[in-house]
Amino acid sequence: MFLAFANPLECLDTNEFIVMTESAYYEISDTEFRLLSKLVYDITGIVLNDTKKGLLTGRLAKRLKALGFSNYTQYIKYILDEEHAEELQFMVDSVTTNETHFFREPQHFDFLKQVILPGIRPGQMFRVWSAATSNGAEAYTIAMILADKLGETGAWEVLGTDINGSVLKQARRGHYLMQEAARIPPEYLKRFCLKGVRDQEGTFLIDRKLRQHVRFEQLNLNVETLPKQGDFDVIFLRNVLIYFDVPTKKRVVENLVPSLKPKGYFITGHAETLSGVTNALLQVKPTIYRKM
Ligand SMILES: C[S@@+](CC[C@H](N)C(=O)[O-])C[C@H]1O[C@@H](n2cnc3c(N)ncnc32)[C@H](O)[C@@H]1O
Repeated sequence: MFLAFANPLECLDTNEFIVMTESAYYEISDTEFRLLSKLVYDITGIVLNDTKKGLLTGRLAKRLKALGFSNYTQYIKYILDEEHAEELQFMVDSVTTNETHFFREPQHFDFLKQVILPGIRPGQMFRVWSAATSNGAEAYTIAMILADKLGETGAWEVLGTDINGSVLKQARRGHYLMQEAARIPPEYLKRFCLKGVRDQEGTFLIDRKLRQHVRFEQLNLNVETLPKQGDFDVIFLRNVLIYFDVPTKKRVVENLVPSLKPKGYFITGHAETLSGVTNALLQVKPTIYRKM
């Protein structure tokens, strides 16, 4: 059994876990869809083709209803009005797909443990960037491995970034539903997670000894120049390139490469490849690349 917590200050905003069941329905015209998908593309780089119409309307319908609009044209005018700039962030949060879980695509974490970490110079700060981190499951998975192999008080840190503000809130709290712990190895669960009791029953919290090494920042990867984040030994960019077209993939990857130390590793999702995207990285094995 792992240690318990019941600190009301760490309390969960349960709204984030409520699945949207109520779905008002609004017709979207081709012109309205084109305008909205162009806006999404210009901001995020995410390509919403016609097959994504249902996804977009499904996600935004509740918002239109809440704002009292009767069609998408009214909503588009509203978000384009500078006075409602915050609504753009709401729209971006609604259209991103944030699917993730702890120890997702576990071969990457085996590679980190078995190949990357044994090769590092002792005592030197080891830095990992989980770009497009979603709710923090990826960043904390990396942190569990680093704490295990480099020590809980060792010289290492993890940066998690994402464009979506609401998933980052959960990431910063480090508070998850118990079913999300299913793939965390039991010894890590016991060592790095606190089990919720009383009103926190059915949840777990990432222990502070891990959280103090992990930092989250909101960051859009689809920009001309990324703000400098320092140099990293490993960059995880997993399961986000699939939403981008080739020019966006190139820009995003080429903007990240300068933040990788020489001989640093760059890891993509299993359905993604950097072939035709960059020449700055050499493939070590499928989905794992290295800066020379
Ligand atoms: C499917 S999740 C992948 C999460 C995690 N990397 C994993 O593999 O489990 C994709 C994430 O990319 C983020 N994302 C999409 N476009 C982005 C952009 N332009 N800049 C930063 N993050 C973005 C989304 O908000 C979402 O959280």
